[in-house]
Amino acid sequence: MISSRFFFVVLFLLAVVSLILSPLCLGIRSFPTTDGNDVLLRFSEMPEYRNGFECASSGDKTATSSCDPSLVHIAMTLDKEYLRGSIAAVHSVLKHASCPNNVFFHFIAAEFDSASPRVLAQLVRSTFPSLRFKVYIFREDTVINLISSSIREALENPLNYARNYLGDILDPCVDRVIYLDSDVVVVDDIGKLWNTNLTGSRVIGAPEYCHANFTKYFTEGFWSDPLLSRVFGSRKPCYFNTGVMVMDLVRWREGNYRKRIENWMEVQRKKRIYDLGSLPPFLLVFGGNVEAIDHRWNQHGLGGDNVRGSCRSLHPGPVSLLHWSGKGKPWVRLDEGKPCPLDSLWEPYDLIYKPKYHENSSPLSSPSIMINGPRSSYYLLR
Ligand SMILES: *[C@@H]1O[C@H](CO)[C@@H](O)[C@H](O)[C@H]1NC(C)=O
Ligand SMILES: *[C@@H]1O[C@H](CO)[C@@H](O)[C@H](O)[C@H]1NC(C)=O
Repeated sequence: MISSRFFFVVLFLLAVVSLILSPLCLGIRSFPTTDGNDVLLRFSEMPEYRNGFECASSGDKTATSSCDPSLVHIAMTLDKEYLRGSIAAVHSVLKHASCPNNVFFHFIAAEFDSASPRVLAQLVRSTFPSLRFKVYIFREDTVINLISSSIREALENPLNYARNYLGDILDPCVDRVIYLDSDVVVVDDIGKLWNTNLTGSRVIGAPEYCHANFTKYFTEGFWSDPLLSRVFGSRKPCYFNTGVMVMDLVRWREGNYRKRIENWMEVQRKKRIYDLGSLPPFLLVFGGNVEAIDHRWNQHGLGGDNVRGSCRSLHPGPVSLLHWSGKGKPWVRLDEGKPCPLDSLWEPYDLIYKPKYHENSSPLSSPSIMINGPRSSYYLLR
């Protein structure tokens, strides 16, 4: 009797103690780690930028309304893993735009990102104090049941599918948007890409790669099923990369393209017709009917091949946008001290906060030095 009462008292005390200590445990877990877990990156504020004289006045610069017709709309996802890339991409767009104050960013953040959308928004605000932007919350259950289990096993980020929902997420007054991946830098005036004409009834524009072997993006099961493979009809489909797209949202909404893409995701759930995640449904719906934009607007593949550590060189021709698609990311390779040659083109846009290195202080000697020391690219928000 006594011993069991004693047992419950001990249990109760343990519970109280662990409740008291739990914030401390979290605090300890929040100390900087090289892989960035549990901590957020800290960024320097971007130097000031201003519209050129030729720019259309875009009303109240602090307005958060996205309905001003002089705006250039850019949509990107925002998540903790690619945050440093997103910040560099925004920086590059503003730096090279003739009318940077007319650029409006639409950031899509995941409901359950380990950094909350609110925190991500604060980071963007502190890095770009006069930026016009909105952060939208993408509910992952929008797509989670549509992603076929074979792909989901590879832990695909549901945010990869956010580009399919821009017509629904963005304000109905936004009739055109440029979608950009988070691993790009723009080295030209984004206004030129914005003014691309989508001829005929074309809904999206992107650089096309007609020499790439299109067959390999779909399974044999797909090509051998006449009902499925006749989707392309008389179109001659070419590969294009969905990381850079100009999208006519009026035609997109009218044609219900979100649903057309989802329909292919439903087919994939029943019968494996492709191996990749978010790209093939776009190829199925738009392949052969894409406005071919100059290749300079997507020099992709700079992340390297699937073999870790391999580097790519530029495709021949002029460059307006560099895209580190592929396994490797420039910020990771730079931090590891093993950059690819072209990563030096990304580095000038990196706004990660880099305090001065103090030779004599050991980064591991105390928690406070860990936070303020040479590895203090991280900062505790929670
Ligand atoms: C798009 O079309 C308009 C009118 O047809 C033309 O004035 C404009 O120069 C074109 N833009 C580009 C980038 O070709
Ligand atoms: C294209 O890819 C398919 C499937 O991987 C392959 O069978 C075919 O030989 C390739 N075609 C060419 C021209 O390389």
